[in-house]
Amino acid sequence: MSSMSNEQRETMPSCEERARELLGRMNLAEKIGQLSQVNCDFHELNEAIRAGGIGSVLNEVNVDRVNELQHVAVNESRLGIPLLIGRDVIHGFKTIFPIPLGQAASWNPELVQQAAAISAAEAASTGVNWTFAPMIDITRDPRWGRIAESLGEDPVLCSQLGSAMVRGFQGAEPAEVGSIAACAKHFAGYGAAEGGLDYNTTNISEHELRNVYLRPFKAALDAGVMTFMAAFNDLNGVPASGNAFLMKQVLRDEWDFDGMVVSDWDSVHQLSVHGYTEGDRDAALAAASAGVDMEMASRTYADHLPSLIEAGAIAEQDIDQMVHNVLVTKFRLGLFENPFTDPQALPPVLDAAYLEVAKRAAVESCVLLKNSEETLPLDRGQVSRIALIGTLANDGYEQLGTWVFDGEALHSQTCLEALQNLTGDEVEVHWAAGLEHPRSYQHGKIPEAVELAANCDAIVVVAGEESILSGEAHCRADIGLPGAQAELIAALAETGKPLILVVMAGRPLTLGNVIDRVDAVLYAWHPGTMGGPAIAELLLGEQSPSGKLPVTFPAHVGQIPIYYAHKNTGRPPSDDSITHIDNIDGGAAQTSLGMSAFHLDTGFRPAFPFGFGLSYADFEYRDIEISANRWRIGDSVEISATVHNRGSRDATEVAQLYVRDLVGSVTRPVRELKGFQRIPLLAGESRRVSFTLTSAELAFFGNNMNSITEPGRFEAWIGGDSTATLGTDFELLAAESAG
Ligand code: NOJ
Repeated sequence: MSSMSNEQRETMPSCEERARELLGRMNLAEKIGQLSQVNCDFHELNEAIRAGGIGSVLNEVNVDRVNELQHVAVNESRLGIPLLIGRDVIHGFKTIFPIPLGQAASWNPELVQQAAAISAAEAASTGVNWTFAPMIDITRDPRWGRIAESLGEDPVLCSQLGSAMVRGFQGAEPAEVGSIAACAKHFAGYGAAEGGLDYNTTNISEHELRNVYLRPFKAALDAGVMTFMAAFNDLNGVPASGNAFLMKQVLRDEWDFDGMVVSDWDSVHQLSVHGYTEGDRDAALAAASAGVDMEMASRTYADHLPSLIEAGAIAEQDIDQMVHNVLVTKFRLGLFENPFTDPQALPPVLDAAYLEVAKRAAVESCVLLKNSEETLPLDRGQVSRIALIGTLANDGYEQLGTWVFDGEALHSQTCLEALQNLTGDEVEVHWAAGLEHPRSYQHGKIPEAVELAANCDAIVVVAGEESILSGEAHCRADIGLPGAQAELIAALAETGKPLILVVMAGRPLTLGNVIDRVDAVLYAWHPGTMGGPAIAELLLGEQSPSGKLPVTFPAHVGQIPIYYAHKNTGRPPSDDSITHIDNIDGGAAQTSLGMSAFHLDTGFRPAFPFGFGLSYADFEYRDIEISANRWRIGDSVEISATVHNRGSRDATEVAQLYVRDLVGSVTRPVRELKGFQRIPLLAGESRRVSFTLTSAELAFFGNNMNSITEPGRFEAWIGGDSTATLGTDFELLAAESAG
C-alpha cells in the first residue's frame, strides 16, 4: 500500500490535475522524452534519463539496476519524473503458469486472475511496473505461433478471461505494492493474420471487427486496463500503428479511453516498411496523429517530433495530450509516491502458495480429448510399472512454453519427477527418450523405448512441440506432431499395452490417425513450472480433468480457418453430404456431391469442437427450461438445465450456453457462446445450472456500425461443448410491442 491515508488521498489533487500541472512545467524536449521507450541496453541510458529524454525502459529486471534508473530519473533529472519499467510478463514471471491458451482452457476467470496477480507480484518485486499483457487477439488460426499467447477464438470467453487478467495484474488499486499496469494488445485484428503467418496483413470487415475482434478490448477497457498496445498488422490497408480509425475514433472517441497507447516494437518505423509512409519522419507523423502516445524501441519520435512541431505538421497541444496520457499513467501507478522497489515488501518469488496456484492452473488447463474404456485414470492396483516415453516428459524448459523471459527450467517439476514422487514405492516409473528430441526424424532410440514399454503395464508418451515452435514469429504450415513422433507412437501401440498420449504444445495440433492408435489423449498445452505434478495427479486420478477447448481443433490443416461461430452460408453441409473424396462416383452428376460447404477430403467437422473436454465423470444434460418464450428488448430471461454426474467420481463440468439469432440484418453466426459456469458435482449428484441472458447480450453491430438488438426468433442450447443438442427457443419482441 502506498503510505497515504484516506484523508490525505481525498485532499490530494487528482492524477489528471497533477499531470496537467506537471505538463505545464515541461519543455518540449522533456515532453518528447516521455514519449520514448527504450530497451535496457540503450546507449548511455543513465545520461539520457538524466536529461529527461526517456519515459520508459523495457526489459530491465535487476532490481538494483531498476532502482538506480529510477534514482537517476527521480533525483537527477530536472523534473524528477519516474520511469515506466515494462516487461513481457505473459504467463508468469518466475512461477510460470500454463501458456495463456492453456489457461483459457480452464474457463476459470478467478483462477486466471489469481495467476495474473501472482505474476504481477513477482515481477513487481524486481521493479517492473508494467506488463505487456493480456494479449486478447481473437485467433482462429492454429498455424499462427502467437495463438499460444491468446485466449482462443471466442470473444465472450476471451473478454471474460482477458478482463480477469487485467484485474489480476492491476489489483484492486494499481498503486498498491505488487500491482502493475496491464496492456491490452495488440490493437487490433492481429490474430487474423492471413495464412496464420505472423505480422501478415489482415482484412476484416468493419462489422466483423466490431462484433468479434474489438470486443475483448472493450471488455479490457471496462475492466480498467491502463494501457493499450498498437498492433503490427496492416488492417484493411492502414497499418494498426498508424490507424486513426482504431486509436482515435474507436478507442478515444467512442470508448473514452483515457490511458496511454504504446506502439509495438519498432512498429512506428515499420509504417514505412509497410509502404504506408515514406521514411521515419513521415512515420512519426502518422503514428502520433493516429494516437500512439509512446514509441517502443524505434526512435522516430525522438528524432522527428521536434521538427514536425516546428513545421506545424503536429500541434504542440496534440503532443501535450500524448504526454498527459503517459504522465497520468505514472500518477495512477503511484510512481511519484513510490518510485523505488523494496523486494522484501513482497513474498519471495516461487513462494509455495504461488506454486500451488500454478499447479491448479495446470490441472484445470488440461483437456481430456479421448479416454477409451476408461484407460484413465491409471489404477495403482493394476499398474505397477509405467513406461514414460518422450523427452518432453523430462525437460524442465520445454514444458514452460513461449514468452518465458524470467522463468527457469531448474524450477520446473517434470512429469518424470512428479510421477515418481506421487507413486513412491507403489509403482515403478521408467523413462525412455524415444527420440533424440521431438523434431527428430531419427528412429535410433525407438526400439529401446518399445522394449521398455513392452515390459510395463501402461505407457504414457509425452509428445508435441518444444517451446520454440510457437510464439512470436514461430508459425507452422504443418501443425502435425513434429519429427518422427507419430512413428514412435505407432511403434509403442504395437505392444498392445494401454497407451496414453499427453500432448504438450503451444497450439492445437492435427493429430490425424495418432488419435486412433492411442487409448487416451490428455492435452496439456505448455503447462508451466508445475506441469509435471498437475499431469501426474490427473493421470493417477487424484484430480479429474475439467479443461475445455478454447479453440476448435481442425481435423486437417486445410480446414483452417475453422471455428464454431461461423456463418451458415447458403449451402451448409449436413450428415447427408458425401464427406470423402474416395466415395465420389466419377461418372455421377455433380449434384450427387451434396453441393454444400465441406472439403471433399476432410468433411466439415473439426477433430474436436470448441468447448469440448471429457472428464473422469460422465455428465448428462436434461430438462432445459426458459423463463419466457417471448420477451422483449430491455428484459432478460433465465435459461436453465439439469446437469447430472452419472459417473462414480466427483468432478467439475463447464456448462455452456449458446445462442443463435436466426435472422439478422447482418447475418449472424450459427452459434455464439453467451455464458459458462464451472459446476463441481459429486458422483451421482444433479444440479440445475441457470444462465441469465439479457437482450443486451443479443446486440451486434449492424451495417451502419451501430450496436443494435433486433427482434426475432432465437435458438439456445445448454451443454458441455459447442455442439450441444439440448435446446430451446424464444422470440425477442421489440421494446414497444410489450404488454
Ligand atoms: C513485440 C510483441 O509483438 C509484443 O507483444 C511485445 O510486448 C513486444 N515485442 C515487447 O517485447
